[in-house]
Order: sequence, then structure tokens, then C-alpha cells
Amino acid sequence: MKLASALLLSLPLFQDTVLAETRDLKKGKCDLWTKKWKNGKSSKGKGSYNFNRIATFPVCSQLDADCNTDTETAAEIVTVSGDLNTLIYSDSPMGVIGFVDITDATSPTPLGTLDVGGEPTSVSVWNDSIAVVGVNTSEDYVNTSGLLVAVDIATQTILKSWDLGGQPDSVAVSPDGKYIVVAIENERDEDLGDGIPPQMPAGFVVSIATAESLDDWTPSVIDVTGLDGVNIPEDPEPEFVHINENNLAVVTLQENNAIILIDLESGTVESSFSAGSVDLDNIDTEEEGIIDQTSSLDAVPREPDGVVFMNPNYFATADEGDMDGGSRGFTIWNVCGEPVWGSDSFMDQYSASVGHYPDERSGNKGVEPENVSFGSFEGTDYLFVNAERAGLVFVYDVSKVKKPKFKQVLPTNVGPEGGLAIPERNLLVIASETDDRGDKMRSTLTIYEYGKGKRQYPTLKSKKPKGSEVPIAFAALSGLSPDPSKDGVLYSVEDSFYNKSRFFKIKTGKSGKASKLVKAINIKDTNGVFAAVSPYGEFSADDLAEMINDDMTVNIDSEGIAADGEGNFYIVHEGQGTVGDADRPIESLNFIFKVNESGDILDVITLPDAWNDKQLRFGLEGVAYNPDSNTLVAVLQRAWGDDANPAVMVYSLDNDDWVGYGYYPLDAATSPAGGWVGLSDITYVGENKFYVIERDNQGYTDARVKKIYEIDVSEWSGDGHVFSKSLVKDILDITDDIGALPFEKYEGLAYTADGVWIVNDNDGVDDNSGEIQLLNLGDI
Ligand SMILES: *[C@@H]1O[C@H](CO)[C@@H](O)[C@H](O)[C@H]1NC(C)=O
Ligand SMILES: *[C@@H]1O[C@H](CO)[C@@H](O)[C@H](O)[C@H]1NC(C)=O
Ligand SMILES: *[C@@H]1O[C@H](CO)[C@@H](O)[C@H](O)[C@H]1NC(C)=O
Ligand SMILES: *[C@@H]1O[C@H](CO)[C@@H](O)[C@H](O)[C@H]1NC(C)=O
Ligand SMILES: *[C@@H]1O[C@H](CO)[C@@H](O)[C@H](O)[C@H]1NC(C)=O
Ligand SMILES: *[C@@H]1O[C@H](CO)[C@@H](O)[C@H](O)[C@H]1NC(C)=O
Repeated sequence: MKLASALLLSLPLFQDTVLAETRDLKKGKCDLWTKKWKNGKSSKGKGSYNFNRIATFPVCSQLDADCNTDTETAAEIVTVSGDLNTLIYSDSPMGVIGFVDITDATSPTPLGTLDVGGEPTSVSVWNDSIAVVGVNTSEDYVNTSGLLVAVDIATQTILKSWDLGGQPDSVAVSPDGKYIVVAIENERDEDLGDGIPPQMPAGFVVSIATAESLDDWTPSVIDVTGLDGVNIPEDPEPEFVHINENNLAVVTLQENNAIILIDLESGTVESSFSAGSVDLDNIDTEEEGIIDQTSSLDAVPREPDGVVFMNPNYFATADEGDMDGGSRGFTIWNVCGEPVWGSDSFMDQYSASVGHYPDERSGNKGVEPENVSFGSFEGTDYLFVNAERAGLVFVYDVSKVKKPKFKQVLPTNVGPEGGLAIPERNLLVIASETDDRGDKMRSTLTIYEYGKGKRQYPTLKSKKPKGSEVPIAFAALSGLSPDPSKDGVLYSVEDSFYNKSRFFKIKTGKSGKASKLVKAINIKDTNGVFAAVSPYGEFSADDLAEMINDDMTVNIDSEGIAADGEGNFYIVHEGQGTVGDADRPIESLNFIFKVNESGDILDVITLPDAWNDKQLRFGLEGVAYNPDSNTLVAVLQRAWGDDANPAVMVYSLDNDDWVGYGYYPLDAATSPAGGWVGLSDITYVGENKFYVIERDNQGYTDARVKKIYEIDVSEWSGDGHVFSKSLVKDILDITDDIGALPFEKYEGLAYTADGVWIVNDNDGVDDNSGEIQLLNLGDI
């Protein structure tokens, strides 16, 4: 141990003086505090403590209790009142700040909104009771202006506002309340001259020395142009700011890949430095419909966005990227400007292993860590990193700042932006900003609680195969099957979101533990069985050729899977296109693929011609194996042609031919958002009986029909028979228990020795939060 650090550790009383001096230390001595620095006690024994989601507040409920509104709202930045009972968030599409009562954190309730006279960009709290809001009032990118608005939280009234002289981005209040700092970004126009800076006017930083009376607050400008380490010194574009207890402000200049430190007492820039770059290995850099984490990128600029101090000497940045950077992770820095730890490629890789990797962002910054927040919970320091494109918060134990320990991930809704730790109440709040009712995404505030107990998420995590650098990547699970010959095993498939289609083997988790995806098997036309299928109607030889790759893998739309327990798997492929619809020409028929454990296609079952002649694009969705008669029972999602209901079709594996069909009587669609109801999956439960999932195509507050029904195929009396159904379980509200709003697409259902399993399809994390709930409902 170095003499200086030994002294520091034994003389905690002198911390304050020493800390101030640490900043002036020469390079090489900046890490004095790294070994032992902690805000609290040891994290020993905290392994059984976890964060779990307890509630989700849809922002639209400020406008209508049932969210029956198409108006776009958003919660972006979130903060809390001094009594810790009211959340305040910024909502730029509405031009308001919103208030939410969290006195009972499991049941957040709307308290209304306040028009702030422009576009709120950030909100923070001063003196416990006053919200300070950055408001952009600019006409455009050139004539920029903005206000700092002070709002009394209790009465929701504007007390006073100050001209900021530019377009604000973030607002921070110092821990002692003496200073309020606003980053004036004067952001660039990304559409002007390819968005390449410099673009005047230049941004700056405003520091306000507060006083007992708001009348005595005076904003002063801190010029941050012409600094070292900044790519384009004349156009700094300050982005985010946070302040430590020594009144040292850290400001990220995202577009400039730089960070500056400002001493607020003297109002001067103390240092500025480049945020540098990172080399990344084992990531996916191409959008080709496959998650293939075998690429590398060298010297990717970090271009940090969110920033937070974790203690007086160390801060963390979310390295989102903006211009050509984005290093897919976060970095921990000391105040000398040295990066002391980085997450490298971990966030991309881990996201893929829990089904949250956004493949559509592979060419473009991956999971995009946007924000960081910090809090010391029950004596353990935690850093929370929001991965905007993955719909996840990564939680790290940073009790040892230079050796962060990954703890867990938490599911968010689409576009997690603001993060707020409320350690005094053991709460964490995440604002997910994306809101689009038509695309079934609603902006929410999600509340998580820290406490003793198992972690609820993830419900499914993949294994790292021998010889691979990364775990198996997966998402978009669209069907489920039990293994009739083995308890504790499930099979699943991925849908057409991915090419080179695969099916998966899953070992189910016992007593609430996550299940494990242990194997991914490519489906291959090794023997040319699929290639030999005859063209029919509009389905041409070219269409068929498009579905088979050079390496014999296939690009299909697997929507259901059934294992027969003897090493054969029946995978239903949903056809593409509708007969007679010029906008949706037939590109593929519906097929059932028989494959073996190696994924080799052994047989391809086509529908009878009469069915192909009236194909609708909502085709085969589920399949189950019936051992009582050695048959397959397959279901269509919706009614075809003039039919009133979707078909339930039976295929004999003894005769290699269709036995016949009946109809499944659907519930009516009752969602206020309209839409339709259809079948999603089917599973065998014994004695010719089957469970099916029936669901509407709505999620969140618009979901109405999510049900498991039973049918009995021995009831069949000939083609066209309409089966009777009986309700087994309404699953609309099963997400209540995990603090979530309903998911749209429950697409997998399996009846097993340990009860019923369901899984939802997360659409490959494209316009979807990515959340996957593989749940055991037990005996229902
Ligand atoms: C806010 O800023 C942008 C420029 O970044 C501008 O185009 C927009 O119209 C501004 N004003 C308001 C009131 O939203
Ligand atoms: C810039 O905006 C201000 C306030 O909105 C307005 O008074 C002024 O005329 C504008 N200037 C130009 C050059 O457009
Ligand atoms: C700040 O808080 C204190 C204590 O609650 C209160 O007495 C004072 O009036 C507040 N100041 C302002 C400007 O609101
Ligand atoms: C998948 O393969 C098909 C056919 O080869 C191709 O048209 C399509 O673009 C691919 N999908 C993606 C996402 O790359
Ligand atoms: C991160 O979240 C905090 C709290 O909501 C907010 O103050 C800050 O502005 C956010 N930063 C980014 C980059 O979104
Ligand atoms: C799967 O089928 C292929 C082709 O018929 C065969 O070569 C392979 O051995 C089979 N694999 C298993 C595990 O049965």
C-alpha cells in the first residue's frame, strides 16, 4: 500500500481536504481512492437482495384513466420531490411536466400535468419542494432560446423563470443546493449539411448561484469553447451535467467526444479531455437477419451521453454515440480524466443471451447505453445503466469503483431514458420514453424495489456453447412444445424476424429460477426434401429458392413446434401473402416441416389445395402432437376466405395424409383500440384434449383478450365441425404480479408434468421492449 493511501484510510476525518486536493494530483496518482472508496458499508451478504419490478405507470393515464387516447405522451427525465412521494417527469411531446403520486409505490397514481411554455428537456428538484425545469423555446436550430422555470411541486404552479440565452438540454442541482447548472446544447441540425458540426450558435454552460429568495438567483454563463481535447472546440454542444459534493460539475460534450470538469465555486473550467475510444470484440456489426457476434471494431469513440458521479472522485458515462462513435458500453473515470474501467462488449453480448439484443441496430451502436444513474442501497453502491435499444437496465455493484460487479438486468419499456435511484425508499424509477399507440408502445415510468428475494428477471438465459466466445443469441420466440419423453425440457422456435431459421432446446428453471436455453439447432434442407416441393398457384420455384440458402439452411417463419418424444419435431411455417390481394402477393405457402434432432428436414407437409386456394396471410400458428391417434393438430391464426372462424386441422402420421378439419369459435375483439382476435398456439393435455391460446393483437392498456381455452378433438363430427371450448385461464392480468402491463403476443404454450408454460414473442426487440416472460403457470 502506498504511503499516501495508507494515511488516507486511517484518517477518514480529513477526507474533505484531501478530496479537494486529489483533483490537482498529477496523473498516476489519481486512483488513490479506488481501492477502498465506498459510500457505505460492505456489500457482503447482499447476494440475496435484488431489484424487482413492482409497478408500471402508463404516462397516457394522465390524459385518460384507461389510456383510451392516441395522443403521444412521454416520460423522459424523472426526478422526485424532497418528501420522496411525488415523481416529476418531463414530457416534451406534450410540452408539460407531469406529477405522479408514489406514496404507495406499488400503485402510482396520476396527479396531473403543467404546461411549461415550451419543450421541457430536463427537470431536477431544488430545496425539496421546487422543480427546476429546462425549457427549450427555440424557433429552430439557429435562433435558439430557452428558459429555466421554477415550479412549486405542491401547487403545480410556475413561480419564476429565467432566460437562459440558448437551448437547454440537462439541468442538475448540486447536492448542497447552492448551484443549479444547465447544459445549453444549441444542438446541431442533423439534416443540415449531413449534420456535420460546427453549426453555430455554439453551446455553453449556465451556472446559477441560488439564494433563499428566487428573486436573487442570477444565471451566469460559463464559456466552454476553445478547450483542449474537444474535437470541434468552437462548437462544444454540452449535453449532460452532474455535480459532486465538492461542487465540481462534470459535463459531457457528446458530439465532440469530450468531457469537461467545471469548478462551480470559481465558475471556471478546471479541465477538459477527450473521452477517447474503445476496441470492441465479439459483437454484431451487420444487419443481415442473424445475430452473429463474431465481428470487431477498433478505436470506436465513446461519445458519452449520460453522466453521473458515484463519489467525489469517480464518475460513470453512458457511451451512447452520436456522430460516428458509440462504444456499446459504459466507462468509469477518475476526476483526472482517466478511464479506470469499461464494460467493453459485455452489454451487447449479455443482451443477446437474454433475448434482448436489437439486431436491427447492429450496424449502428448496438444496445446504445444512454444513461447512468447511481444510488447506495442498504450500504451497497449501485450503478444503473440504461440500454436504450435493448429495453434493459444493467445493474452493477460499484462498491469497488475500479472493479464493478455485474449484478442483474431489469426489463423496461421501449426507450429507457431517465433513471432515478431513491435509496431512502429502496426504489429505482426508469422512464421509458417511446409512445405510439398504433405500434403498441406506450411511454411508462417503471418502479423497481430493492429487497430480499429472488430476482424475477430474466426468465430465460442462454448457455455459452463449448468453443464459442459468446452465449447463444436468441429472441422472437413464437412457439413452445413439451418433450413427451423428458420432463424439464421445452422446445421453441424463432419466427421470420431471423434468417437461417433455428429451433431451441430449453431446460426449465425450477422454483422460480431462470430457464436455460441450452441448444440452438439450424433447420437444414440437407436431403433436398424442401427443394423438391412443387410450385403451386402463385408460389413459384423462385419463391421456394429464396427460402433455401446456399448452406442448406432455410429462411422460414416458424410459428409453432411439436416434439413427438422420439426425436422428431414438427415445425409449422406460416405462409406469406393473401390470395387475390395484389398488395400482399403469395410469397410462400404454409408448410409443416418434419425435422430430426440435428435439424435435418425429413419431410414437408403441405396443406390441401382447397386451403392453399384461399390462403390468408394469417396462417399456421401452432401445432401439437396427439399420441392417442399419432396425429398432428395444427391451427390457423385467423379465419380464411369466407370462413367465420380459424381452422383446426388434423394430419395423420400413420397415413401421411390430412384427416379433416374443424373450426375454433373465437371470442369477439373488445379492445378500445380495435384489432382482431386469433389463435396463437396449441398443446396436448391428454385424452384427445388440447389447450389453445386465444389473444387479441393489442398490448399494454389496450389488451383485452389473452386466454387459455380447452377443446376436445374427439368431439369432431366431420369437416366443418365447430368445436366447443371451455375457459381454462384468463392470463390478461398475470403480468400484474410482476408489475408489468400486459404483453401483446403470447405465442408459446406447453403442457408439461410441472404444469403449463407460456412465452411471449418479443418481435426481435424491434418496436418492442424485448421483454420475454417464459412463465410456469403451474396446474391451471
Ligand atoms: C426546440 O429545439 C429544436 C432544435 O433542436 C427546435 O427545432 C424546436 O422547435 C425547439 N422548440 C420547441 C418549442 O420545441
Ligand atoms: C429569434 O427569436 C426571437 C424570440 O422568439 C424573436 O423575437 C426574433 O425575432 C427571432 N430572430 C430572428 C432573426 O428570427
Ligand atoms: C427552502 O426550504 C425551506 C425549508 O423547507 C423553506 O423554509 C424555504 O422557504 C424554502 N425556500 C424557498 C425559496 O422556497
Ligand atoms: C433473409 O433472406 C431473404 C432471402 O434470402 C432476404 O430477402 C432477406 O433480406 C433476408 N433478411 C434479412 C433481415 O436480411
Ligand atoms: C438520466 O436520468 C436522469 C434522471 O432521470 C436525468 O436527470 C438525466 O438527464 C438523464 N440523462 C440522459 C442522458 O438521459
Ligand atoms: C438426421 O437426418 C439426417 C438425414 O437423414 C441424418 O444424416 C442424421 O444422422 C439424422 N440425425 C439424427 C440425430 O437422427
